[in-house]
Amino acid sequence: MASLSVSVIVGLLVGSTIGVNNGLARTPQIGWVSSKKPKYPLVCSNPSHGCADTLENNWNSLGCDVSDSLLLDTSDKLVSSGLRDVGYTYVVLDDCWSAGRRDSDQWLLADRKKFPRGMKAVADDIHALGLLFGMYSSAGEMTCARFAGSLDFESQDAQAFASWGVDYLKYDNCYHMGRFGTPQISYNRYDVMWKALNATGRPILYSLSNWGEDYVHTWGMSLANSWRMSGDIYDAFTRPDALCSCGDAKDPHCIAPGTHCSVLSIMNRVSAFSDRAQPGGWNDLDMLEVGNGGMTDDEYKAHFSMWAALKSPLLMGHDLRTMSPTTLTILNNPAIIAISQDPLGLAVNLALRDTNVKKDKYGMGETHLWTGQLAGGDQVVILFNAADQDIHMSASLEEIFYYEGPEGSAPQAKQAWDVYDLWAGRMDIETAQKILVDDDDLRSREQLLKEANWYNSSAMSYKEGLKSGDPRLLGKKTSSIAAGGTLSVLVKRHSAEAFRLRNPGEKTARYSMAKDEL
Ligand code: GAL
Repeated sequence: MASLSVSVIVGLLVGSTIGVNNGLARTPQIGWVSSKKPKYPLVCSNPSHGCADTLENNWNSLGCDVSDSLLLDTSDKLVSSGLRDVGYTYVVLDDCWSAGRRDSDQWLLADRKKFPRGMKAVADDIHALGLLFGMYSSAGEMTCARFAGSLDFESQDAQAFASWGVDYLKYDNCYHMGRFGTPQISYNRYDVMWKALNATGRPILYSLSNWGEDYVHTWGMSLANSWRMSGDIYDAFTRPDALCSCGDAKDPHCIAPGTHCSVLSIMNRVSAFSDRAQPGGWNDLDMLEVGNGGMTDDEYKAHFSMWAALKSPLLMGHDLRTMSPTTLTILNNPAIIAISQDPLGLAVNLALRDTNVKKDKYGMGETHLWTGQLAGGDQVVILFNAADQDIHMSASLEEIFYYEGPEGSAPQAKQAWDVYDLWAGRMDIETAQKILVDDDDLRSREQLLKEANWYNSSAMSYKEGLKSGDPRLLGKKTSSIAAGGTLSVLVKRHSAEAFRLRNPGEKTARYSMAKDEL
C-alpha cells in the first residue's frame, strides 16, 4: 500500500480509463501565471549564470521579475477581485525563480533575493487563501532563461516540489540536449518526470510546455494533464510573425514552433486535433493575453471565448495588480467559464472556415464556425470573425450539428433550439471599478459581488450550477431557431459571438441520457 501514490489511488477511485488518470484537471485548469507581454530590454537577473542579452521573447516582462511579494499580492488580488471564487485557483510561477545552481547535495535552490522565505512559505500562504501553487522547470539541462533544469534530476526535483507543497508543474522544453525528434524520444523524456511526480504521492497537475513538438497531441494525454500545442502566444489577434511557424496543423515538418503566435494562428493549428481534449488531458493554447493591451475589447472577448470553448487551460498572463475594470469584466464572465468547466469535457471543433473575405493590413482575413457538445444536450456555437469587415454570419442547424451526422442527418438538426448569448450578462464597469478599488476592506467587496449576484464557484461548483440550470451560467436567451433553421447574427470585425443552444422543451433520447452525466 505504501508504494501506491495518492494520485494513483485517486485515479483508481475515479475509475476512469481516459486521460492521464491522476484525478486532476477533470476540467481545464484555471488560474494565473507569472508572464505577460514583452518589455525590452530584459534585465539579466543572473549574470553569473551567463544570461545573454538576447534572452528575449514575448512571454516575459513580468517574467524574470518574479518574487514572493508578486505571488502573494497576486493571490490577494485573486481573492479580493472575486476571480478566485469565479474559478481561478492556480497561482503558477514561471521561469526565473531559482538561484541558478544546485546546492552541494544537488537540491534546487530558490533565489534568496526573490524568495527570502523559501518556496514552502510561499506555498503555505497561497494555500491559506484557498488557492493552489504551481512551479516551473524544464525537461532540459537548463530552463529557457538558463537556470538549472530538471533533466536527469527528475526524481530529486519532484521530491523537492512535493516537499514545498507544490500542486502543479509547468514543465518546459528548453535545452533538452538533443533528446527530441521523434514522439518516442520526447515521450520518454517527459515520462520520467511524470513517474517521478507520481512517486512523491502528492497530486501534482502535470503541464507540458513542449510547444507542440513531436506530435504531443497524440501522446500527451498518456502522461500529462495538458500539453502546449503551439509556439508561445503573443498579444495579437491576426498579425503573422516570422517567429511563429507551424501555423498549418497539417505540416509534418514542424520542428520549430517558435514564439509570437497570434490568436488566429494558434486556433488554426489546433483545429486539426481539437478533439484530443478530454477530461484529465487538454490541449494548452498558451496563456491568456487579456489585459496586456495589444488587442481590442472585442478581440480579447473572442480570444477568451475560444480558449474556453477549445478547453485550453485558462491561465491569465497579465499583471493583476494593475488590472483594469474592463479586463476584469472579460475574465470574470461565468457564462464563458461554464463552457470551459463543462463536465462533458469536449472541445469545440471547426465546422466552417471561409477565407473569401476582406483581408486586413497583414493580408489576414477569415471567418469560422466552431461548434461543440456540452453536458445535458446543450451545444456551444461560436461565430468567429477575423475578417477586416463586419459580417452578417449565419450557421444552419445542419452545419452546427455536422459532427453529429452529416448533411442534416443529425436528430439535433431537426429540432428547435433556444439561443442564449454568453456575453449578455457581462459585469458592468461601475461594479468592476468598485471591486478593484485598492483598500483593505475585503468584506465590502464581497458584499458588492453578492449584490451583483455574481457566480461563486467556491460555494457551488460549475457542475452543480449547470445541473441546477443556474441562469448566470447559461447566458441570456436572445432568440430561438426553428427546426431545420439557421442562426444569423451580425459579427463585428475582429470579434466573435458566442452562444449556448438549449432544447426548449421535449427531451431527446440523447438529452436525458446526457443529463445523467451531470
Ligand atoms: C518558454 C515557454 C514560455 C515561458 C518561457 C520561460 O519556453 O513556452 O511559456 O515559460 O519559456 O522562459
